[in-house]
This record gives sequence, C-alpha cells and structure tokens, in this order.
Amino acid sequence: MEKPKFERPLINRINAGVPDKFGMKTNVQPISEIDDNTVNNLLSKFGSPLYILSENKIRNTFQDALSAFKTRYPKVQFAWSYKTNYLNAVCNVFHQEGSWAEVVSGFEYDKAIANGVPGNKIIFNGPDKSTDDLEKAIQNGSLIHMDHFDELYEIIRITGEQKLTAKVAIRINMDTGIYPKWDRFGFNLENGEAWSAINKIMAAELLELNGLHTHIGTYIMTPGAYGVAAGKLADFAVRIERKFNHTIKYIDMGGGFASKNTLKGAYLPGSDTCPSFDDYAEAITDALVNSDIQPDKMPTLFLETGRALIDDAGYLLGTVLANKRLADGRRSLVIDIGINMLFTSFWYEHSIVPAQDHQQDTEDTTIYGPLCMNIDVIRSAVQFPLLEKNDQVVIPRIGAYNMTQWLQFITYRPKVVMIDNENNPHIIRENEDFESMNLHDRMPEHLSKIGM
Ligand SMILES: Cc1ncc(COP(=O)(O)O)c(C=O)c1O
Repeated sequence: MEKPKFERPLINRINAGVPDKFGMKTNVQPISEIDDNTVNNLLSKFGSPLYILSENKIRNTFQDALSAFKTRYPKVQFAWSYKTNYLNAVCNVFHQEGSWAEVVSGFEYDKAIANGVPGNKIIFNGPDKSTDDLEKAIQNGSLIHMDHFDELYEIIRITGEQKLTAKVAIRINMDTGIYPKWDRFGFNLENGEAWSAINKIMAAELLELNGLHTHIGTYIMTPGAYGVAAGKLADFAVRIERKFNHTIKYIDMGGGFASKNTLKGAYLPGSDTCPSFDDYAEAITDALVNSDIQPDKMPTLFLETGRALIDDAGYLLGTVLANKRLADGRRSLVIDIGINMLFTSFWYEHSIVPAQDHQQDTEDTTIYGPLCMNIDVIRSAVQFPLLEKNDQVVIPRIGAYNMTQWLQFITYRPKVVMIDNENNPHIIRENEDFESMNLHDRMPEHLSKIGM
C-alpha cells in the first residue's frame, strides 16, 4: 500500500457558516455518475470543465409542474423562458413537451422561429423591442406584451402604417406584498397606469387585447404573493369585461418559482425550504377559480417559469488543479471551473461535491476557480474532503441562467452535453477555440504588423 501523504497538523478557527442543532454537517456524498454515465468517462470524452444536462430530468420536472397546474385548472399553457437557457436542444425539449416560447429580444425571437415555433405561439416580452422586431411579431401574429407607453404608441403607429392587427397584452406590476416591489417593468396597477394603457388599447383600431401579464419577481418563496397577483389580475379582467364587454383570453403569471438552490445567507438549504409546484399552483388557481370571472369566460393560464424547470437538470463537472495552503494555513483548492462559468454563484451558495469516493476527513476550505482574478471564488468557506490534483468535482443544480449569462473570459467556454432519455450523451454546444474566438476580431491595416 502506498504510504499516505503527510499533512501538517493545523488548528484552525472554523468559519464555514453557523452550526445548526445537529452540529457541522461534514458528510459529503459524491456524485460519480449522471444518468448512468460516469463523471470520469464524461470528462475523459468531452474534456474538463464540462456542462451536462439531463434530458430525462428536464422532461420529468416539466411534467411535475404541468400536472400540478392541470389537475387544478383545465386551461394551462407553459411558455419556455428562453433567457433561462436558450441552447436550441434545451428549447426543443420544452417545445416537444408542449411549451410555447417566451422571448425578450429580437435574437431570442429569431431563435424561437428557427427552432420551428409558430409565430402565434411566441410571447414577446421585455422593454427592448426594436421597430423591426415589432413589425416581425405583428406580421407573425405573436403575442406582444407591452412594457411601456412608448412601445404602445409605436405599435399603434406600425399597425396603422401596415394596416395589420397586433395581438397585444400588457405587463402589469403591482403590490403583492413582495418588497422591494418590481415596478420597473410594465404598467403599474395601483397608480392607474395599467388602466390607462387598457383604455388606450381599446380605443386603438388595430390593437386586439388578448391578455394580462405579470412577473412579480424571481425566486419567490411566498406562494401567497402569486395568489394576490392572480386575484388582482382577475379583478382587472372583470373590470375590462364590464366597461368594454371584452373578454380577456389569458392571464400570464410569468415565472419566478424558486429552484431548490440555496440563496447566499440562507439559514436552511433551498431543497428544504422552497415551495413545491403544488404550493404555487394552489395559490394561483385558487385565486382564479374564486374570482368574479364568469365560469364560461375563464382565461387560459400562461406560465413562464424558468429556473424551477431546469436548474436541477444541469451539472458542471470539473477537475482539481491544485491544493494550496493560504498564508494563515487555511486550506484552499483550485478547480478549473471559474465564476464566469457559474454566474449564479453571485447569489447562490452552490453545493459542490467530489466525483469519486474520498476520505471522510473534511476541512474548512476555500474553493477557487482558475481565473487569474481575486474575485474568482466558487465557495469562500465549505467543509470539504481533502481532494488531490486531478480529482474530479461536480456542481449540481446549475441548469438555469449559467448557459446564457456565462462570460467568455481568459479562456474558452467548454462544451455542453445533453444526456438523452436512453442515457446517450450528445454534444449540444461545442467548446470555443482559438478560431471561433477570433472570428469577430477585425484588424485595422495600420495595426496588422507589429515590427517585432
Ligand atoms: C418576463 C419573465 N418571465 C419569466 C422569467 C423567468 O423567471 P424565473 O427563471 O425566475 O422563473 C423571467 C425572468 O426574469 C421574466 O423576466
């Protein structure tokens, strides 16, 4: 047997968070395989670091969410929030499951069309829609969710010029008991702005008011806030019906359901504290069925939930580059996953685990990424097993926002692999390389020679 390596004994102040009543939890369970593929094989085949998505997990999570709503309310339609993860393969899994597309830019709109989503199954949200974007959306019969009066006037101008009808809804912000209030998007309910927008839409010849939309915030831990919002939108729909004899076809409750990740500073893990799909569904559908909307005029319920549908399906796999002792003797680990690949590490305390069996000893450790930047800290203090160079690690629950908000920085972004329902891995996004990185650089003639 190989002689164990000598580790200098150390006495350290423990500062890896506050102990709970069970003491410090030090039992770290490895994740050595994902959908029957060993982490080791995946990294050998596709390189390290590596993003993995489980198709099976996406589909199962989607079906859980759908059934939570469908069993309580018959008319439910999900629309996949592209910005959460707009890799084409991911979008198409959701579309195959029946999701429409929810987009917030011309780029995302074009992606949805290229993925084969019919124009009339695209919800176009967001404060930044160019004239070209709006013209395209109007021609395709997409559902345009207006954000502000300037957009409303622009749509009136375009429809008048082109003699086309636009299918519209307004985004409404309101007091739901969640503070700070998200009032920068859409029209405010309480100050009368939303009502004013509706009156202008109803007066416009070529605008067809289809729905009411809200997105009350993100990572909302209080399902009751959705109940308040759904109730207010239902009352608003009744008011529109009363004044204009016009039926609202759908109420879109946006996204914002919490995923099971743990927010920084949270006392208990997100997996223990986050509400379930049933909790959200109960609050929303209860408010709708109990409202004064006439039974034969119940609107379709749209949902644009993002992170709660995909976070659990994503994993980041990586490799230990080095072990170091900091000046005060504290243990640190350098891995090849930087915060530029894990944008959500700004607000989540991401769990990170070894990919192989390891000794049971743990030590308060700081885990750094590979970037030559002081801010590149994956976990500032975590009780972590004593891994060695070339050991492998897994960061689970990273499916939402990391593959869209990632930053190319210092080195190339890696491959993304999806494991299909038969457990076969497929590359769904190639890694960047020297050639792809230089594709957009341009060299002015006078700088083309450096004379060295
Ligand atoms: C309009 C809209 N819908 C849906 C989403 C998805 O939100 P989440 O990922 O929190 O569910 C967002 C995210 O910010 C959004 O702005």
